[in-house]
Amino acid sequence: MNYDKLSEEELLNLINMSNLPNHIAIIMDGNGRWAKKRFMPRNFGHQEGMERVIEIVETASQLGIKYLTLYAFSTENWKRPKNEIDGLMKILVLYIKRELDKLCKNNVKLNILGDISALPELARKEVKKAIKNTEDNSGMALNIALNYGSRDEIILAVKGIIKDIEMGNINIEDLNPGIFSNYLYTKNQPDPDLLIRPSGELRLSNFMLYQVAYTEFWFSDVLWPDFKTRKLYEAIIDYQNRDRRFGGI
Ligand code: IPE
Ligand code: IPE
Ligand code: MG
Repeated sequence: MNYDKLSEEELLNLINMSNLPNHIAIIMDGNGRWAKKRFMPRNFGHQEGMERVIEIVETASQLGIKYLTLYAFSTENWKRPKNEIDGLMKILVLYIKRELDKLCKNNVKLNILGDISALPELARKEVKKAIKNTEDNSGMALNIALNYGSRDEIILAVKGIIKDIEMGNINIEDLNPGIFSNYLYTKNQPDPDLLIRPSGELRLSNFMLYQVAYTEFWFSDVLWPDFKTRKLYEAIIDYQNRDRRFGGI
């Protein structure tokens, strides 16, 4: 459907509030190309990307989305030049410094998916503080995937399961998809209903491979720094027009 002629408010009115996706996951991609188009360094694109994180977190929590997962830094992103990685870590610290009070005010609970032990000390410290300060919040759960890789996550789960089997906490026979899920970073959370990837790439890039078994995928050519509130509305409207069968008829 072409939504270009509709205002943001008209789009909002098209959303069925009783059929919202419980869990939305977003692969925030396209910052570098957005900057390149403006003859600016890649980190300029990441800065503008942060503005969209702020906007989309606010929009999702106001809508009443229960879980929002944002893919911010993958286990493969360490391959990038040091200057870009440093810039991304600085932006992470800046984001928390700027937004922590608002997250608390909006009752948002921050979780991290991924191994934060590999982050620079300052970033780790800020992230831990934000997790601690929001731990009792009961509104939207905001998962930020940081140094996240789905294959690493699955291997970590397998290791945890083997340990629990060895210790007699679970029996091999009892292992099932539900129990397996409890060893993932997303334990106790529902699988994403809707996965959004902007920037025109049609791949998962090592993101939530286990959790997206029945997720609806929504792709767009828009680059992440241009992914404003109305794009989220469009994705949700399209999602609500899908027929989710889960293997049934
Ligand atoms: C942001 O977009 C995603 C991150 C890894 C932070 P990119 O930096 O991948 O931008 P493109 O894909 O090069 O345009
Ligand atoms: C995926 O984007 C990772 C994040 C958005 C954090 P990439 O830009 O790293 O993915 P590829 O390399 O194009 O697959
Ligand atoms: Mg990219």
